[in-house]
Amino acid sequence: MGFVMKVLKSILFIFSLILFFAFNSSINGQKKISEQTQECLDCHSDIHPGIVHQWKESLHSQITPAEAMKKDKLHRKVSSLQIPDSLKNKVVGCYECHGLNPKNHKDTFEHNGYMIHVVVSPKDCAVCHKEEAKQYSGNLMAHAYDNLMGNSVYKQLVKTTNGVPQTKNQSLNFKHPTKLTNAESCLYCHGTKVEVKGFETKETDFGEMEFPVLTGWPNQGVGRVNPDGSLGSCTSCHSRHDFSIKMARNPATCSECHKGPDVPAYKVYSVSKHGNIYNNNKSKWNWESVPWTVGKDFTAPTCASCHASLIVDESGNVIAERTHKFNDRLAWRLIGVPYSQAHPKIPEISKIKNKAGLQLVSELNGEPAKNFLITPAEQDKRNKRMKKVCSSCHSSSWVDNHFKRLENTIKETNKLVKAATSLMIKIWNEKLADDSNLFDEAIEREWTSIWLFYTNSTKFTSAMGGGGDYGVFAEGRFQATQTLMKMYDWYKQHSKMKKLSAEKK
Ligand code: HEC
Ligand code: HEC
Ligand code: HEC
Ligand code: HEC
Ligand code: HEC
Ligand code: HEC
Ligand code: HEC
Ligand code: HEC
Repeated sequence: MGFVMKVLKSILFIFSLILFFAFNSSINGQKKISEQTQECLDCHSDIHPGIVHQWKESLHSQITPAEAMKKDKLHRKVSSLQIPDSLKNKVVGCYECHGLNPKNHKDTFEHNGYMIHVVVSPKDCAVCHKEEAKQYSGNLMAHAYDNLMGNSVYKQLVKTTNGVPQTKNQSLNFKHPTKLTNAESCLYCHGTKVEVKGFETKETDFGEMEFPVLTGWPNQGVGRVNPDGSLGSCTSCHSRHDFSIKMARNPATCSECHKGPDVPAYKVYSVSKHGNIYNNNKSKWNWESVPWTVGKDFTAPTCASCHASLIVDESGNVIAERTHKFNDRLAWRLIGVPYSQAHPKIPEISKIKNKAGLQLVSELNGEPAKNFLITPAEQDKRNKRMKKVCSSCHSSSWVDNHFKRLENTIKETNKLVKAATSLMIKIWNEKLADDSNLFDEAIEREWTSIWLFYTNSTKFTSAMGGGGDYGVFAEGRFQATQTLMKMYDWYKQHSKMKKLSAEKK
């Protein structure tokens, strides 16, 4: 054989080797996508390029559960210790989520040969993320639908906010709100009840197909009641189909729901020192690393750092464990309806009854419904967990003084609410207003805005270290006292008028 031939042959040999490996690895790559998911992709790449592209960018399309389970505890993202073999060695594709637990889902339908459902629920995610789903169920958020719609006092507020008003014989009434209105009002955040109202056939590019008819959907509220009976939607903080940790750590994610005058956490945060540092430095932070190293990955806390994240120091020592039970670090229930007190023991607030029989965690005179609240020892434990986060950047005197101010603010705003509520009770007792619905008269709205807006805003400002305006002139102390003055003037005028008209008779 001539020299040239030898060289040609070896080039050919090397070339075929390269081809072999290239071909083989692409087969391996493809093998990781299940056959079922490949079929979904064949159609859905054309129909929903947005969805398919987002999924391709996500970790779900890149790492199999088996690979993920090899990581050590601190770095691990799949918390389930056991995952069915059929799922372990394929990446998590369309079918691996939409085809889970078909028997439990009322929205399961036959789709091109597969039994799938639309609403992928916390119970489905729990197949691989068991801990997160379990912890989340101990969170008030998971129970937000029933906490609102199963509470007779809160429902009066829903009715007089969302119901269509009618005037009849000089009285103002509210019709029961429609489901469509509730779904885009209160339940946008608290979560709807998603129900299956049968199935319908639609004409598609691929011929006729049958789909479930869902009511209360779309919705990504935190306490959504799903067609498989599970509670919540993981998509409220990890939107589909990128399901990222980065998004959940970003304060903008929480701002979607925690912004209004009643729950101004985001507003307060955005004008606090922490929010300011975040805004200046966010592009330099590492949003994806797990665990999150304080100082190295981020230099000021976001909502997630204080309430949820797994935080370590540079030697890997754990400062805070990750939790999806967002009250693990909360000693208090700040949002007062109408008073603040220790955090409730159970997340299902609608199961609580005060002495007066109302589903509230305190009496109207401010006395806490003690049996339903966590003990001072448990409060202390939760406060210590929160303080440990602070202490990774602050001295103990800084942190202790901060919480002293918070306790003082809780005490003082409770006193203000008590003054307003005692006056309101007087107004009801003297029949100047009617207490059959607590929220349907202008004077009752004045009372409501004191505790629902102004003292809450004041307390949030105190708790989350900043946002001075929101504790003072921007729906804070100033408006709280001013509204109390208005209530008092109203009371004096109306009781005088009542006396005068009684004297005339
Ligand atoms: C033959 C093509 C085809 C295949 C294969 C296919 N789909 Fe679809 N799918 C469609 C069409 C068409 C729609 C309707 C799109 C619309 O209404 O906008 C749809 C809708 C859906 C919906 C939304 C249903 C609703 O009511 O909102 C989901 C979820 C879905 N498909 C998941 C899957 C999954 C998971 C697979 C693989 C197991 C899959 N599809 C396979 C064509 C297909
Ligand atoms: C990690 C689990 C997961 C994977 C993987 C996944 N989905 Fe989804 N999908 C969801 C969740 C959660 C929702 C939101 C449903 C809801 O409202 O609760 C959703 C919603 C949808 C919808 C309805 C969205 C809309 O806006 O109309 C379609 C269609 C859909 N998925 C198709 C797909 C396709 C196609 C793939 C594969 C490329 C896929 N999904 C992969 C979990 C998943
Ligand atoms: C069949 C198993 C499986 C299911 C079902 C599943 N996941 Fe995952 N998930 C994974 C794997 C594997 C990873 C990547 C782990 C890794 O990188 O180590 C992951 C990662 C994640 C991450 C971290 C992403 C990041 O940016 O770090 C989030 C958040 C997540 N999943 C949420 C969900 C949600 C929400 C659902 C349900 C809608 C869901 N997953 C369903 C297996 C699953
Ligand atoms: C933009 C999102 C959003 C909307 C819309 C919304 N809420 Fe809320 N609501 C929240 C958040 C967030 C909390 C919890 C705040 C906290 O824990 O401090 C909350 C808490 C509450 C609570 C206290 C529940 C408890 O645990 O005791 C009541 C009552 C309430 N909301 C009533 C309503 C009513 C009534 C409507 C509609 C008229 C409504 N909300 C609309 C976000 C919202
Ligand atoms: C889709 C709306 C929504 C989003 C997004 C959301 N929340 Fe909430 N959150 C709520 C509602 C509603 C409640 C009140 C539930 C109740 O009282 O029944 C709540 C309650 C809470 C509570 C009190 C929980 C408890 O058990 O005491 C904390 C803390 C909280 N949210 C923090 C956060 C953080 C941090 C984020 C972002 C990572 C976030 N939330 C994102 C709607 C939302
Ligand atoms: C109220 C917001 C919120 C909701 C709802 C929520 N998460 Fe998370 N999730 C977070 C935050 C914040 C983090 C980041 C924690 C950290 O930094 O350690 C996170 C992180 C994760 C991770 C990544 C863990 C890792 O090791 O990288 C997974 C997986 C996850 N969540 C799954 C879920 C599942 C499953 C659900 C539904 C049962 C869910 N989440 C609902 C806020 C939320
Ligand atoms: C510096 C840490 C820190 C940051 C950052 C932070 N919080 Fe808080 N948060 C707290 C503390 C402290 C409390 C009160 C603790 C207690 O109840 O013992 C609290 C309480 C809450 C509560 C419970 C209120 C209630 O009614 O019981 C919610 C909801 C909340 N924060 C949401 C958020 C959101 C949303 C963000 C981001 C926009 C955020 N927090 C940022 C420390 C923080
Ligand atoms: C990741 C680091 C980090 C964590 C964690 C952290 N902080 Fe801070 N905090 C800072 C930095 C940096 C400043 C800015 C100090 C300055 O400007 O001199 C700050 C400022 C503050 C301020 C503003 C003081 C003022 O008058 O301007 C308060 C209050 C505060 N932190 C309280 C807390 C509390 C309470 C916690 C825990 C619940 C906490 N911080 C957690 C880094 C952190």
